[in-house]
Amino acid sequence: MTVTTPATDRVIRTPRVPVVSSLATATTAAAAPASAPAAVPAAVAPSEPDPSCASAPAPLAVLGRDVRVPLATGGEAGYVPLDYAASAPALQRVWDDVAAYAPYYGSVHRGAGYLSQLSTDLFEQSRETVARFLGCRPGDEVLFTRSTTDSLNLLAAALPAGTRVFVFETEHHAALLPWERAEDGEVVYLPAPHTPEQAVALLDTALHGAPKGPKLVCVTGASNVTGEIWPVRQLAAAAHRHGARIVLDAAQLAPHRPVDITALDVDWVAFSGHKLYAPFGAGVLAGRADWLDEARPYLAGGGATRTVARAGEQVEVEWHRGTARHEAGSPNVVGAYAIASACKALTEAGFASLVTRERELLARLRDGLAAIPGVRVLSLFGEASERVGVLSFVVAGHDSSQLATDLSALHGIGVRSGLFCAHPLVRTLLGSEPDAFGECGAPDAVPGERSLDAIRVSFGAGTPGEHVERFLAALASLVTAGS
Ligand SMILES: Cc1ncc(COP(=O)(O)O)c(C=O)c1O
Repeated sequence: MTVTTPATDRVIRTPRVPVVSSLATATTAAAAPASAPAAVPAAVAPSEPDPSCASAPAPLAVLGRDVRVPLATGGEAGYVPLDYAASAPALQRVWDDVAAYAPYYGSVHRGAGYLSQLSTDLFEQSRETVARFLGCRPGDEVLFTRSTTDSLNLLAAALPAGTRVFVFETEHHAALLPWERAEDGEVVYLPAPHTPEQAVALLDTALHGAPKGPKLVCVTGASNVTGEIWPVRQLAAAAHRHGARIVLDAAQLAPHRPVDITALDVDWVAFSGHKLYAPFGAGVLAGRADWLDEARPYLAGGGATRTVARAGEQVEVEWHRGTARHEAGSPNVVGAYAIASACKALTEAGFASLVTRERELLARLRDGLAAIPGVRVLSLFGEASERVGVLSFVVAGHDSSQLATDLSALHGIGVRSGLFCAHPLVRTLLGSEPDAFGECGAPDAVPGERSLDAIRVSFGAGTPGEHVERFLAALASLVTAGS
């Protein structure tokens, strides 16, 4: 199949994959189309796998371990999900907890019935679990939102009038864009730093010269493009030195590292359930209550109001303070409970061992990629910088989108290609202009030319070593043999 995107005339060649007739029996693939290769050639091992790493099981059980997907060649393969940075598979534990609760599901904060009371308790206990997971201070609030994007938009809507927001141009769009909407505010975009120390220095200088008034810094904990970890504690210290507050976008950090709001000394933290193995439509904004309590409710509606009465031609409303103020409407109890369940599972597994394991897989991934001709791993802070299990790269002379398509269609491996909703950052890393416009995606690179978008591979606590080996073998085969 050939798809032409109208805006760019960009052509992505898609080897035809047989349609899965039933999710439960996605194992019988139709005959290969004439245009597809007759068979997937034997995998080319790009470098010697480390046997202990290759056979290492995943530390935590996730759903979908046995899913098989059809290939364009007519065969099938066990699916290899390596796109955790977009959405991680659900933890089995999360799924089991949600299933066990499902028969008891009821309305939250609304009903007198037993199941409503039980569901309300569960919702509020989930808030406490998340507060513990994040090391919240007394007085901090944990709000359940839809996602990181929602959390940061909520905070943007709650900023005191005239707040000046400082944000690096390297941020994910969810952290880069909400601030322009704040009332009478101003956004100061900081350029891409090339070391963690430079990030701190850039922020320090910008804050030093800033006029008086409320200030907020928004920064990521770990990049969704390079996986590199940002110097959050030092950035928080710089912010506070200049009387600014700081919000941490922990969408990519929280699944991989402990995020302790007190130890990092940040004012707010935002993250998404679906990246934390809890894909039930909830996210979190946690942190200081004062700005949130002073702000207009994010949504106007039931649950956020203490009293509502007609007053002449008007309606007079007294809004709640606290979490209810910004959680109007029926709360997502399943989503909140799923996040709490994931927090418990990660805490019980222990980040120390999860991190050790992740570093081993990352080292193997990097060794393997280094052995494949033309691969360039993208990095802002340099080779030695600390990363989570997220890594983007380009292969000289190869179109990233085509490689990602082929990894799926010919090898059953799910990765992502494009600019990853961080356009200025990816353009900087690829050497194109950070202020260039363009779609999420880029034209085909012709052989020998620089790629205009990248491939991202990302993994987590549900990834067995074998998945990294399959990815490396498949990529080597595509790059060296074309299939
Ligand atoms: C660093 C970062 N921040 C924010 C987001 C937005 O998360 P969500 O789409 O769950 O709102 C993402 C999603 O990829 C991300 O990687």
